[in-house]
Amino acid sequence: LVAAMEEVEETYIMVKPDGVQRGLVGEIISRFEKKGFLLKGLKLFQCPKELAEEHYKDLKGKSFYPKLIDYITSGPVVSMAWEGVGVVASARKLIGATNPLQAEPGTIRGDLAVQTGRNVVHGSDSPENGKREVALWFKEGELCEWIPAQAPWLR
Ligand code: TYD
Repeated sequence: LVAAMEEVEETYIMVKPDGVQRGLVGEIISRFEKKGFLLKGLKLFQCPKELAEEHYKDLKGKSFYPKLIDYITSGPVVSMAWEGVGVVASARKLIGATNPLQAEPGTIRGDLAVQTGRNVVHGSDSPENGKREVALWFKEGELCEWIPAQAPWLR
């Protein structure tokens, strides 16, 4: 279990269209930067419907699914790939509960959102989905391998 927790993972984080519209991009990126995770990829991107459907394929059939697809494709999103030990679960903690009214203060959703259908940010829910989603949203050549100067203090 300990070994599993020490794995270097990647996760897909996305500022959803409401976060972009509300000017929260910098605030949201900043939380992951300050925590000490490594940014591997970043782009502003208008998501086509087919990609939104592939990303949320596990939710197909849910009552909120059509609205979710409309929402995600309603304007540009900011796509990010972050790397780090335990980054998947840690990013989910930083993001907070799906329903922003139940998200703890101090989390992104707890501090910045009100509605489940406008919860400003996405984070992969497992290491497998982290890999799947990074590969889905980024093309080869869009990710950077680099070592930040402060790496010895943070990693
Ligand atoms: P889900 O994967 O369950 O949550 P999370 O984003 O926290 O991993 O659901 C994906 C998105 O679907 C969620 O962020 C917002 C939307 N959604 C609704 O609009 N209504 C709902 O009842 C649920 C559960 C999710």
